[in-house]
Amino acid sequence: MQTLKGKHIVLGISGGIAAYKSAYLLRLFIKAGAEVQVVITPNGKEFITPATLSALSGKPVVSEFFAANTGEWHSHVDLGLWSDLMVIAPATASTIGKMANGVADNMLITTYLSAKSPVMVAPAMDLDMWAHPSTQRNIRTLEQDGVEIIQPGSGELASHLTGKGRMEEPEEILRRVECFFSRRESLRGKRILVTAGPTYEDIDPVRFIGNYSSGKMGFAIAEEAAQRGALVTLVTGPVSIETSNPNIERVDVRSARQMMEAAEKAFEDCDAAILSAAVADYTPEFRHDTKLKRENTDGLELRLVKNPDIAAGLGERKGDRILVGFALETDHEHDNAIAKMRRKGLDMIVLNSLRNPLAGFNKDTNQVTVIRNDGKETEYPAKEKKEVAVDILDQLEDMMASER
Ligand code: C5P
Repeated sequence: MQTLKGKHIVLGISGGIAAYKSAYLLRLFIKAGAEVQVVITPNGKEFITPATLSALSGKPVVSEFFAANTGEWHSHVDLGLWSDLMVIAPATASTIGKMANGVADNMLITTYLSAKSPVMVAPAMDLDMWAHPSTQRNIRTLEQDGVEIIQPGSGELASHLTGKGRMEEPEEILRRVECFFSRRESLRGKRILVTAGPTYEDIDPVRFIGNYSSGKMGFAIAEEAAQRGALVTLVTGPVSIETSNPNIERVDVRSARQMMEAAEKAFEDCDAAILSAAVADYTPEFRHDTKLKRENTDGLELRLVKNPDIAAGLGERKGDRILVGFALETDHEHDNAIAKMRRKGLDMIVLNSLRNPLAGFNKDTNQVTVIRNDGKETEYPAKEKKEVAVDILDQLEDMMASER
């Protein structure tokens, strides 16, 4: 099927052994109806010839700043504007490092820096290079810059060592690209509220009650919704994550009460709300204006009072909005999650499994079961939080479609 008909893809190839698979990936893109312009680094040409790639793409391959025979200048700016999506596969440690730092010494990087389109990167390298702190730092930088990383798989590598670093298979890269194009517009015109992170409840000017929530799940949801074209208001407690997507309006708060005020304001205009924040249930009755001193007594009593339940408050006046909550339970998790969904007026609840070591606070992975008030229930395997965000938004879109 021509799933990519009329789409302009710039395929960047850098110098790793996995470049031999790029010919196959290119063939898949062309078969799916895309127009593909290949940009290859000088080292890439040592692994696969431009002749093969231009024969498959039907276009001359771009590699040098100037064409060898005519001296004509290749415009990376034009290529960057032409592109609907840039896919760099394989991306070596060197190319990833140059992308993260803007080292524009070849056509692939200058095209990347000029690209107005989204960019996907499929890394491929030896396991130690992949695990190196500098590679991981560069990957994080690319993620913060809005680049989608197609994580490498584990298996036997060119070095005959076994581990993580193998470029994802071309069929899977094609699937990700198809998903990208098909979901791009699916939430255009919708406004979505996302709450994320912990809340900090102040005891005095230097102490607070908090929790271990990192905000990663909520930020992944906000990012995915924004990529689908939604306008997102992300109300977040204190976290150390950046956001760069222009569709996300970020509101930083500290306490549950501040989160409630910001969430209630954004809720007015939104079509759906996903409440993934770990909100403190209790807060100190008084916030001391000066730092509490160590007293000459055995202990200190701190009286706590109940915080407002943001989800339940929004649930009472949700109208035809779709409201999604999270549940993290240690016992009778399934029954408790359903009871919580009913009590808070939610349409859907995402149950985090605490029994699974791949799920929970501060991890990059999560394992969830999505329970809906229409009786549908889906248990997913453990996945990257970004992929969990895809599943949650697919469920939300499905509910929005059936409400219509
Ligand atoms: O009751 P519990 O905290 O387990 O409920 C979890 C769900 O309710 C989450 O979606 C969380 O964001 C939301 N919640 C809230 N306000 C609170 C407590 C929880 O919105 N005060």
